[in-house]
Amino acid sequence: MLPAGPGRDETFYACVPCHSTQIVRRQGLSRERWAETIDWMVARHNMPALEAPERTLILDYLVQTFGPGAAAEGPRPFYTPPPRRNPFQTQ
Ligand code: HEC
Repeated sequence: MLPAGPGRDETFYACVPCHSTQIVRRQGLSRERWAETIDWMVARHNMPALEAPERTLILDYLVQTFGPGAAAEGPRPFYTPPPRRNPFQTQ
């Protein structure tokens, strides 16, 4: 469900009690936006607040795996892929 990497398991267990990983996987956010998202999960949805070492680990994982340039899976309504040339077109 989540790509391998340091912090993967922690992220899984912190985020999956309430929703699937799909909602996480389809994002491509900067570090600030991920930090805001975590705070928002705590403030709005009563997620247990993440303590310092774990929070950093999860934040690192999220930014590394689903950062701004990440090729996130699934539908991303605000993402437009860059136009690609048809490789078989000769002119
Ligand atoms: C206590 C429950 C709970 C936990 C734990 C939780 N979330 Fe959520 N999250 C929600 C709910 C409920 C929604 C959807 C409702 C909404 O959009 O207000 C949501 C929506 C989201 C969204 C979609 C926001 C959008 O723009 O639609 C993201 C991204 C997200 N969560 C990330 C995370 C991450 C990352 C974690 C783990 C660090 C996490 N959530 C843990 C309850 C939770």
